Amino acid sequence: MAAKVTVVNNGPIRIEGEFTIQDSEGNSFGLGGRSTISLCRCGLAENKPFCDGTHGRSGFNSQCKARDLPPPKPKLTPAV
Ligand code: FES
Repeated sequence: MAAKVTVVNNGPIRIEGEFTIQDSEGNSFGLGGRSTISLCRCGLAENKPFCDGTHGRSGFNSQCKARDLPPPKPKLTPAV
């Protein structure tokens, strides 16, 4: 199953399906066989990048409605 990413209102980003999570050096987090994980969006989790529920106690407020983004800007090619 392709990964599904859900931005939870007032909460984390939930990922379900087949996915891996890597750090900036390309090392994978061991997810203990989980097929669903929530990533912190409020910035307050003790166990970043994973959500630990702190958003609920802190009153994190962020409602995100789906919308279309504009096309990406063309990349400049270096002059030869
Ligand atoms: S979104 Fe849950 S602790 Fe940050």
